[in-house]
Amino acid sequence: MESETPKTDSKATILLVDDDSINLSVFGQCLMVHYAVLVATSGTRALEIVQGALKPDLILLDVMMPGMDGYEVMAQLKANPATRDIPVIFVTALTSDQDEERGLALGAVDYIYKPCHLSILLARVRTHIELKKARDRLTDQNLYLEAEVERRHLENQRMHLQLLQSEKLAAIGQLAAGVAHEINNPLGFVYSNLSSLNNYFQDLFVLLGACERLLGQHPVAPDALQKMRELKQQVDLDFLRQDIPDLIAESKQGLSRVRDIIQNLNKYAQVDSADWQLVDLHECLDSTLNIFYNESNKHCTVRKEYGTLPEIACLPSQLNQVFMSLLMNAAQAIETEGNIIIRTGCNDSRVWVDIADNGQGIAPEHLTRLFEPFFTTRAVGQGIGLGLSAAESIVRSHHGNIEVSSKLGEGSTFRVWLPISQN
Ligand SMILES: Nc1ncnc2c1ncn2[C@@H]1O[C@H](COP(=O)(O)OP(=O)(O)OP(=O)(O)O)[C@@H](O)[C@H]1O
Ligand SMILES: [Mg+2]
Repeated sequence: MESETPKTDSKATILLVDDDSINLSVFGQCLMVHYAVLVATSGTRALEIVQGALKPDLILLDVMMPGMDGYEVMAQLKANPATRDIPVIFVTALTSDQDEERGLALGAVDYIYKPCHLSILLARVRTHIELKKARDRLTDQNLYLEAEVERRHLENQRMHLQLLQSEKLAAIGQLAAGVAHEINNPLGFVYSNLSSLNNYFQDLFVLLGACERLLGQHPVAPDALQKMRELKQQVDLDFLRQDIPDLIAESKQGLSRVRDIIQNLNKYAQVDSADWQLVDLHECLDSTLNIFYNESNKHCTVRKEYGTLPEIACLPSQLNQVFMSLLMNAAQAIETEGNIIIRTGCNDSRVWVDIADNGQGIAPEHLTRLFEPFFTTRAVGQGIGLGLSAAESIVRSHHGNIEVSSKLGEGSTFRVWLPISQN
């Protein structure tokens, strides 16, 4: 019998299942020219073969066989996820429409009547092998695409974390500069008070030395008392009596300011608590405000209009970072003098914090871009555009959201919504 040569790239494998050895031999010899051929003389043997390592790309399945018939073999192939996608062509002497319908309904890709012309058999086989290869290629491509999507997703996550990290470092840098400035001032005058006190005590020791010498004189030399009086005037004892307690009080005040700054920093950073906790947001806002309110933000008047808030489940040090970013943005939007108002409130399940300023406001075309990483309208070197993007990620990780309303020239309000509970 003649046959067309099918165009096959690599040899596909075909499983021939037939209880008739003549059929097996005729079909087998014809197919072997183009494909690797496996044979099974019964349904049971066919099922054993498909469980093996070498899975056929196509099965030619006889229907009428003793023991397990082709329909049963087909049903079992379809029931097993490892074999259900192998295409099956029924090759049978059953020629009624109902038989063909039944075979196709069970999931066969084709139905060929015996006896058949070998070229027709080969043409059908070739078509289904090509289809199977195309399907396999699609599956491979899908798997590759899924892996690629997953890889990009992980890469995005990694970059996002890096962005958050750099924003954190930038924020710490900004904070450190503000804190250094705040600490520098009291430290400066405590240092200068200590050198004044040092001079005063040297004078006092000179006076005390003279007293000591006077006490050792018997009898006291006539001009000694006069010399003492002159020395007392020279060191200005009356002034020292007044100034020394002043200097000490002032230095104590300066040092308590430094202590307060450090306590506030500790609270702001919540050094001891990187865990979720129940927190009073007003405390978070206050400790952030204490750090925020330094020299560079003195052009803003901050007003608090706190409502009644329940404690909420959160990571306080992260929320402090959010409030700090919003406060810094508000202060930067106020050019000369202006107000920042912090309002709070809640409903049954969520709390909100508004940070409103009467600064320059936001242009409508910028409103949709505010939370994009690196979006900034500030001059080079003045902002990297990560404050809001980092704030939004933190709020999102708390299952909350940030809303913005703004009018150019009038000011902006950023509202942070947070759930009371994380359940
Ligand atoms: N309260 C505000 N008033 C006016 N514009 C604002 C306000 N808050 C944010 N913006 C605008 O949104 C932009 C992005 O803010 P974001 O905090 O993300 O970055 P940035 O402040 O520019 O830089 P960074 O915070 O990284 O130092 C700002 O450049 C500014 O144009
Ligand atoms: Mg900012």
